[in-house]
This record gives sequence, C-alpha cells and structure tokens, in this order.
Amino acid sequence: MFRASIFTLYPDFFPGPLGQSLSGDGLARGLWALETRQIRDHGLGRHKSVDDTPAGGGPGMVIRADVLAASLDAGLLPDDPRPRLLMSPRGRPLTQARVRDLAQGPGVAIVCGRFEGVDERVIEARGLEEVSIGDYVLSGGELAAMVLLDACVRLIPGVMGKLESGADESFESGLLEYPHYTRPREFEGRPIPEVLLSGDHAKIAAWRRAQAQAITLARRPDLLKRP
Ligand code: ADE
Repeated sequence: MFRASIFTLYPDFFPGPLGQSLSGDGLARGLWALETRQIRDHGLGRHKSVDDTPAGGGPGMVIRADVLAASLDAGLLPDDPRPRLLMSPRGRPLTQARVRDLAQGPGVAIVCGRFEGVDERVIEARGLEEVSIGDYVLSGGELAAMVLLDACVRLIPGVMGKLESGADESFESGLLEYPHYTRPREFEGRPIPEVLLSGDHAKIAAWRRAQAQAITLARRPDLLKRP
C-alpha cells in the first residue's frame, strides 16, 4: 500500500483537501495511508525550539539539523524503502513522469520546510531529495506536499474508478488536453463543434489530436520540444 509520512510543524493542515473527494474516499477505503509527525516533538528546551538564526547572518530562521534529524530517525526505520523528499522551491521540478514513478512505489516520506530553509547538513546526512512544485515561493512545504500527494494518489489503482487509466490526460500524452463540451448543444450562441456530433469516431479522434497539438503549441511550446 502507498504510505505517506509527513514531517511538519503544522500537522493540523492534514489531511485537509486530501480528506475530500477522490483522495479522501481512497484514504477512507484504505487504498493509501497518511501519517503526520510533529517536528516540534523533537524541539529543544522549554520552548521546544526547532529553528535558529542563519550562520553568516541574514534574514529569517533556519530549521536545525539536529532537531529535524531526530524527528526523521524517530519516524522512519533505517531500511524504509520510501524516497525521502523535502518540499522546496530549490528542488527539481515535479513532473507527471515522477508522479507516476512515485505512485507505483511504496509511498513517500515528505519533509515540509518553513522559514528561510533547512540546515544543509541534514539534507545531506539523511539523503533528502528536494522537490519543487513550481517557480514561485509558498510560505511552507505543506501545500506543496498536498499537491504532490494528490497527483500520486489519483493514480493508485482503485482510487479513480472509471477514469482509471488517465491515459489521455494532459502530460500523459505529452500534449495538453483537447477542449471538452457537453449539453446544451448551444450555449449563449456558441454551438458544440459539429464534428463532435457527427458520430464519426475516427474523425473525432483526429480533430481532438489536432486541437491538442494546436493548444500545446500556443500555450506550452516547451512541451513539444521534450524528448
Ligand atoms: N516550499 C515553498 N515553496 C515551494 C515550492 N514552490 N515547491 C515546493 N515546496 C515549496
């Protein structure tokens, strides 16, 4: 079973949106599992302190290596096969290919950063792999972890029901999706494209392919250049 262990200073964020809809139903049905670990449980002193000022000066606070290491060591057995991810805007960008890989594995252990960052030494010493969900900065890794988990969990067999394969969706084919239409036949003077009402399945498939290509070229030409 796909198991997610989240190391965070805000365990109450979870399951959050992951407790609803497809992922929530999958969680309730035991198709995947989620546990949170409060990093502050391993904090130091009366205030359970987890961070300190950056060596060399500068703004913000940095999560201490010893505190995060203690939390990870208490929460993960040394032979836990799951990849250890650290959500961070410095990370390698998350892709659908990576999501597919992760979803087929035993799960993930995810560290959610806060403040200016995490002491580099614990990233190295515990083999954390930094992962970004995009070129913008969130106030912490929790929402990023939820994005990654949502993308993985929907691919777990049984979670999506009928849509199971997800095969013609955006990115799975290397193209963005073609446009969709449903009733009514005309909306505010805009008809559904005639070809979709023709019943000619070959023609419909060709039209959709051409639309997907045109939309990808207009919006994300970078996707067409990928190997
Ligand atoms: N934490 C803050 N910003 C982030 C981002 N863009 N991706 C992943 N984790 C983050």
